[in-house]
Amino acid sequence: VNAATAPVPTEERLSAAERGRLEQLEGVIERGLASFIEVGEALVEIRDQRLYRSTHESFDSYCLERWGFRRAHAHRLVQSAKVIRALSPTGDTPAKERHARELAPLLADPDQLREAWSDARERATGSGEQLTAGHVREAVESRLSPERLAIRELSGTDQWETPTDLYDALDAEFRFELDVCALPHNAKCDLYYTPEQDGLCQPWLGRCWMNPPYGPKLRDWVGKAHQAALEGATVVALVPASTETAWWWDYCRQAEIRFLRGRLRFSNAPTHAPFASAVIVFGRPARVIWWDWQAQGRAR
Ligand SMILES: C[S@@+](CC[C@H](N)C(=O)[O-])C[C@H]1O[C@@H](n2cnc3c(N)ncnc32)[C@H](O)[C@@H]1O
Repeated sequence: VNAATAPVPTEERLSAAERGRLEQLEGVIERGLASFIEVGEALVEIRDQRLYRSTHESFDSYCLERWGFRRAHAHRLVQSAKVIRALSPTGDTPAKERHARELAPLLADPDQLREAWSDARERATGSGEQLTAGHVREAVESRLSPERLAIRELSGTDQWETPTDLYDALDAEFRFELDVCALPHNAKCDLYYTPEQDGLCQPWLGRCWMNPPYGPKLRDWVGKAHQAALEGATVVALVPASTETAWWWDYCRQAEIRFLRGRLRFSNAPTHAPFASAVIVFGRPARVIWWDWQAQGRAR
C-alpha cells in the first residue's frame, strides 16, 4: 500500500490548525533548502567567472573576507547543491545541508546516491532516532568499502585530496606558494597548475606543494620534483609509500623522507586509504623521519 494513499486512522488525522502549521514549517524547510542550493550555485559562478576579481586577488580571499569562510567550505556547499540537484528528480531530497554533504562521495553514481539516501532514513527509523549526518555517513560508507576504494585507486583516479590537517601542518612549516597539480576546487595555493595547463610542462619555482595524480605518470611527477629541487625549488610531495618502485629508488631516496604513521583519510574519501603514504621534501638532504604528524598536532 502506498503510504500516501493508505487510509489514515482517525487518531492520526491532523486538525486544520496542525495542517496549517505543517504547511508553514514545510515552507521554512523549502526556503532553507532552496537557499543552500542557490548559495552553492552562486559560489560556482563567482568562482568560475572570477567575478571577485575587481576587489579580491583570489577566490580564497574573497570567500574569507566577504563571507568569513574558506574555499573548502565553499566547495562543500557546491557539492551539497550538486547532491540535491542529482536527487531532485525523485522528489525526495535532504532538507539539511550537512546531510546532503555526506552523500557527495556517491555523486558519480546516481543509483548508489539514491539508495544511500533511502538507506540512511531507514537506519534512522530502525533505531527510532531522528535522522543525523551519522546515519547518512554510515549508509555512504557501506557502499564505499575499502575494497571498492582500492579498486577505484587502482583504476587510476587522480583525485585523492590532501587531508586538510596534514596540509595545514606542512603549510605552517613551508609556506607554500604554488600547487603544481590541482583543479580550482582542490587547489591548495592561490597559484596552481591545472591539467589543461599541464603542470608537468610548467616551471616549478619557490616553495611548491605536490600531491600528484596517481597513475602511469607518477614517475614523471616525482622526477620533475627532483629536477626542480636541483634547480633551486623546494618541492614537498605527498606520495604513496611504494618503496619497491623505481621512482622511489631513483628520486625519493635522495631527499628527506617522512614516513607517515597510519593511513591517511584523504579529504574527499569516505574511509582511510588502502595504502600507506609518505611526505618527501625535495631540496633537503637525504634522511628518513618517522613522522607522527597527528601527535605533533595534539601536543600543540
Ligand atoms: C591527488 S589530486 C591533488 C589535488 C590537490 N592539489 C590536493 O593537494 O589536494 C591531483 C590533482 O592533479 C590534477 N592533475 C592531473 N593531471 C594534471 C596535470 N597534467 N597538470 C596539473 N594538474 C593535473 C588532477 O585533476 C587532481 O586534481
